[in-house]
Amino acid sequence: METAAPTAVIVAIDGPSGTGKSSTSKAVAAKLGLRYLDTGAQYRAITWWMITNGIDTDDPQAIALAAGKPSIVSGTDPSAPTITVDGQDASGPIRSKEVTSKVSAVSAVPEVRTLITELQRSITAEAAEEADGIVVEGRDIGTTVLPDADLKVFLTASPEARAARRSGELRGKEAADLAATKEALIKRDAADSGRHTSPLAKADDAVEVDTTELTLDQVIECVVTLVAERRSATGGTEKRAGRS
Ligand code: DC
Repeated sequence: METAAPTAVIVAIDGPSGTGKSSTSKAVAAKLGLRYLDTGAQYRAITWWMITNGIDTDDPQAIALAAGKPSIVSGTDPSAPTITVDGQDASGPIRSKEVTSKVSAVSAVPEVRTLITELQRSITAEAAEEADGIVVEGRDIGTTVLPDADLKVFLTASPEARAARRSGELRGKEAADLAATKEALIKRDAADSGRHTSPLAKADDAVEVDTTELTLDQVIECVVTLVAERRSATGGTEKRAGRS
């Protein structure tokens, strides 16, 4: 009797800030025994490197020239994701207000996107070969990075709900009031959606989930169910094929 080839499942979760992408993606990956990749953290890491190395983040040419210099490494365990830049833990500094305000400009530079996209595809291919698959969260995963993903989810929520969630995540002196958080978030989403290269967008074949009225547990359950449905419908991705 012929045995089926081992398969992995590749899940792309996109959407604007504050829709619960990270919490949902991590929890779904942990529940299903998959790896997890936070692609926003990679764009934040390269932005942090630009700032600390004195590169003018308003100068796309300078960013393009420097883009290949830092070595960015993502740890993909959903219970303890990590990010290092040139061997240094960057998980704290990449969440600073300064990085948040500059990441849209840096991530709009095509050379940056090409390099980070290659990195994301190689991490995904490795997870498809060596593990049961991966949940990759970002803005352009379903449209550009992994157009063949087994499941694409696009999370949305009202601007009010997103600002309230993001505000709750901020700590200490960087905690902004709700109105300021909402304004900053809308500005960043507009920049991410309006950029020329690989903008924030829903893939035609993505399932849209409006999380405004849902609890985190409900969103997680919804995505876990979608993965199960997709797995039984398609069987997932053949491990030998990988994905790139
Ligand atoms: O998810 P986040 O807020 O940590 O993402 C930070 C920024 O990175 C976001 O404003 C846009 C950029 N980004 C991107 O351009 N493409 C992705 N796939 C993920 C994030």
